[in-house]
Amino acid sequence: CGIIGFIGNDALNGILNGLELLEYRGYDSAGFAIRRAGESQPEIHKCQGRVKDLREISPKTGDYTCGIGHTRWATHGGVSDTNAHPHRVGKVTLVHNGIVENYKELSEEYEVEDQLVSETDTEVVAALLNKFYKGDPNEAIRRTVKKLKGTYALVVMFDDIPDTIYATRNVSPIVVAKNEELTILASDPAALYEYSKEFFVLDEKCILKATKAQVSVVDFNGQEVQPKMQVVDWDAGNTGKQGYAYYMEKEINEQPEALKRILTNYLVDGSIDLGYEGAVDKMLTSFNRVCIVACGTALHAGMMGTHLFRKWLGIPVETEMASEFIYSDTVLDKDTLFIAVSQSGETIDTMEALKKAKKEGAACLAVLNVRGSSISRIADYTLYTDAGPEIAVASTKAYTTQLMIFYLLVLRCASLRGRMTEADLEHALENLRRVPDAITQVIAIKDDIHRQAKEVIMASDLFMIGRGMDYLVLLEGALKLKEISYIHSEAYAAGELKHGPIALITDGTPVIAAATQTKLISKELSNVKEIKARGANVVLLTKEELKADFAQSDEYHVIGLPNLDDEYMSFPEIVALQLYSYYVSADKGLDVDKPRNLAKVVTVE
Ligand code: G6P
Repeated sequence: CGIIGFIGNDALNGILNGLELLEYRGYDSAGFAIRRAGESQPEIHKCQGRVKDLREISPKTGDYTCGIGHTRWATHGGVSDTNAHPHRVGKVTLVHNGIVENYKELSEEYEVEDQLVSETDTEVVAALLNKFYKGDPNEAIRRTVKKLKGTYALVVMFDDIPDTIYATRNVSPIVVAKNEELTILASDPAALYEYSKEFFVLDEKCILKATKAQVSVVDFNGQEVQPKMQVVDWDAGNTGKQGYAYYMEKEINEQPEALKRILTNYLVDGSIDLGYEGAVDKMLTSFNRVCIVACGTALHAGMMGTHLFRKWLGIPVETEMASEFIYSDTVLDKDTLFIAVSQSGETIDTMEALKKAKKEGAACLAVLNVRGSSISRIADYTLYTDAGPEIAVASTKAYTTQLMIFYLLVLRCASLRGRMTEADLEHALENLRRVPDAITQVIAIKDDIHRQAKEVIMASDLFMIGRGMDYLVLLEGALKLKEISYIHSEAYAAGELKHGPIALITDGTPVIAAATQTKLISKELSNVKEIKARGANVVLLTKEELKADFAQSDEYHVIGLPNLDDEYMSFPEIVALQLYSYYVSADKGLDVDKPRNLAKVVTVE
């Protein structure tokens, strides 16, 4: 969920604009509570649907000066107007991000059931706060959060304290910025860019009191805490769609630049420099095992990292889903390099996994996009992808930039450990330098990709098959397609087909086969023939230079990708699949950037 608090002139627009910027965190419903200067009881406007629906039912103007807002990804309680935030009980109005696990027990213990109108955990927190509030907000907040089990970022207004917002948090983030005109707090810096280049992250177990003129933070013992200011790294923040129909299309097109930026940042005088004055290098020479943990797209990038570590270093590596890792018995120790991968740096499962690894003594590295995010504060060192704000829920440039970091990291490690000659390293870097242009070339054949995408808009199922690295890329390709087109799409290792999945291939089943790995081509070709024999419609992705091996008949459509060495084909291949998924979704008339039921930042377990 996205939360916002705003104190300053034109709070109405401040909140609505902020909610729009945070909408990628959840868009089942939206709402806000707002007051005029000196006013006590807020007006509440909320509804299921998007922020644009909220705008319809909101006042168009008004001299409001203080308010809180929320955009929801439903957890406890269905999607409805009543369950939308803010929630209000007695003198307390609040918005909440996270999950309070013991809300039922609390509502019984403190006998507040009669005061509740929604099915949410949040409303119980409002009721508790109201019960404990006897004029001292800090005391009420302290007493309340002591009772809560779970994660929360709470932003609260008390009726009898006008022009003031309070906030506290456990795990779920809250960032705060201020300038001469206003104070703003939000669940991520995306909502702050417009107002300030500086912000701070509210520490856990602290209480923020914010007015237009002042912010102060105290810990639960009442001791003042000095916030640590950070500078917003992305100059322009979210600068809109810049003429593209969707953010996803824009972000696909930004990949060549984003990848060039990484190469510029991490290649110093022609060699890989991971920063931190050699501290990361030191880390890279002392482990004998690697464990990579992430969720969603970042997990797929991690799987590619695993492949590269095995290929170039020959050491044991595992990738695990963060949500499983937390409760697994994976063995970690001080000789393990643990890598958490995350675009947002806020995914709670990845964060909890990292905390566990740290506790067990592993050396902890993070690969993140958002500077100052929660995960960066836990990891020993962070390698940033610096891809700029990714707004579309379906991740694109975050994935390719995460891949690039893994290539640089593993190559650096291989060279430090003497596993690679200077010449081989230079050859590898030469390939990486060609990646941005290769992606531009894929974008140049988008019309062909679009034509193929049009063929499947009515399909209910689609399969993707490949071997080796191709299979790893297809896992991400299939995720892209399913999340934005709602077509059931699955990636299978081509050799595994005959052990079950081939039963799903019937006349006309669409299949994307990827064959970019020279040594696996003949095997892949056999698998393609097996599914062709069962009636599949096949689109084949291969290297331009290998096209001839497949073009002996018009049995399938072949898309030729720019030629890089096999190990680097993952880049052009995924961009072709991103474009393919994008066109299927856009041609189906779906909301490409905000697919149903999903959220960009998942801060609940
Ligand atoms: C959500 C997003 C995905 C993303 C995943 C992990 O599911 O919709 O696009 O890959 O979270 O997010 P992270 O920010 O940790 O990379």
